[in-house]
Formats: sequence, structure tokens, C-alpha cells
Amino acid sequence: MKKFFAMMLVVLMVLSMTACGKKEEGSSIDKIKDAGKLVVGTSADYPPYEFHTEIDGEDTIVGFDISIAQAIADALDVELEIVDMSFDNLLMSLANDEFDMVIAGMTADDERKKTTDFSVPYLESKNLILVRAEDADKYTSLEDLEGAKGGAQTGSKPFEHCVTYCGEESSVGLKKVQDLVMELEAGKLDVVFLDYMTVLSYADAKDSLVAVDVNIPVTSDGYSVALKKGNTELTEFVNGVLEDLKEAGKIEEFIVEAKKLEGAEE
Ligand code: ARG
Repeated sequence: MKKFFAMMLVVLMVLSMTACGKKEEGSSIDKIKDAGKLVVGTSADYPPYEFHTEIDGEDTIVGFDISIAQAIADALDVELEIVDMSFDNLLMSLANDEFDMVIAGMTADDERKKTTDFSVPYLESKNLILVRAEDADKYTSLEDLEGAKGGAQTGSKPFEHCVTYCGEESSVGLKKVQDLVMELEAGKLDVVFLDYMTVLSYADAKDSLVAVDVNIPVTSDGYSVALKKGNTELTEFVNGVLEDLKEAGKIEEFIVEAKKLEGAEE
């Protein structure tokens, strides 16, 4: 028994030594190349950023964020693996090394920058609200939102807007955007706060819903790739890829492609 424990101890020591050694010598980019894949976390409930659709009878995650992820994987010459989870868990999972980066229509603001690093923005961020068509004239300014039953995705920036403008007691946070839309259609919510392109996607897809601009102030630089705090090497690499994509007009192209795939998501 004693011998067994002694042996286990040696094994553990050797294991931890190799683990430490690896950390020191391998850069974050080398690690991804060694693994042969880039693992990207997202919350695929946000057309046209990222959403589920059926391609050749198979459930597939698509969207312009996914095209950006693919471009980064291509630049690294590795495969892309997407991990889909609820939006409010993404940054925690990133900090716990569950993936290499998060691409999820994530707004880079000062609060998040305290614990997470962000790439340069790849698109300007804007917010609209989604309401029932018959209510379109009811909400024309931020003041009109006071006391309205508001909903937004848990852990999202739009949820903060919801609380600010509808009031804490009138705000509901749900994990899935599709559920917010359902509650709105059912009359359980009056307004849903989302990023502008997602609002437009749902307004397009559903006759009963419309997009309304109530001039929610812009409080960030835009949408960015989120990376683990301190991972400067990978952040700089991602910045390089994004600058190239922007310069070549690729982001706009990706958005057009993503919009074409819309409509099939649940
Ligand atoms: N832009 C907002 C934020 O960062 C919402 C993003 C939601 N993204 C998603 N894939 N559901 O808080």
C-alpha cells in the first residue's frame, strides 16, 4: 500500500512538472496549433450573429460571427470547433479555459474589460427594441418605456438597458432569446431589448412583431472577440485577422451570407 502511494506521488509529480513545463514553453497560439483546433464559445440564439439552421438535413450553427471564427481558424491553419451554451455563462467558461475565445455579438464595455480582454471591434454596436406590431406607436422615446413589461437576455448589456428604462420591477431576464420572443408574442412582455440586427431579424421573420428605435444611448466601442485576460499574443493575432477582414469588406459579406440563411431557425 505504502509503495503504491509512493509510486502515485512520483507519477503526480512528473505529471505536474510536465504540465508546468508546457505552460512555460508553449505560447497560446502554439497550444491551439498543437491541438489542431480553435475552440470558440458562443450562444447560438442570436440571428444573424449566430444561430441554428438546417443544412443538408443537419442542425448547424451559422451566422456572421461563425464566419469570423472560421476566418481566425483558417489564419491559424486549424479546424474550428464551436461550443454552444447560454450567454450568461460564456465569460466564466472562458476564464476557466473551456475555450480559446468567445464570439457572440459580445459588446466590449468597461465593466467586462475588467475581467476579460477584447479584440478591436469588428462592428459598431447599436440597440433597438422589439414590440408587437399593434404597439408600434406606443413606444417612441425612452420615457415611454417606464413601467412597460421589459425582457432581455440574462447577463446581456440589453438587460441593463431594460432595467434602466423599464424599471427593476418591470424587467425580466431569460436565458434564451427565443423564449423572450415567445413571451412577447404571447403578451407576457411588452418590449424586448436586443442588439439591432437581431431585432431586425425577428421583425422580418414575424409579421406580429416590429423593430422600434427609441434612441438607446451607445455605451461601447462595438462588438469584439472576447479573450482570456492576459492572453495578449492571441488578442493581437485576432486583431490582425479582424483588421484584414474589415479592410477587405469581408464582414459585410459575412452579414449578407448570414441573412440569407435566416428564417430556418426555430
Ligand atoms: N451585445 C449584447 C451583450 O454583449 C448581447 C449579446 C447576446 N449574444 C448572443 N449570442 N446571445 O451583452
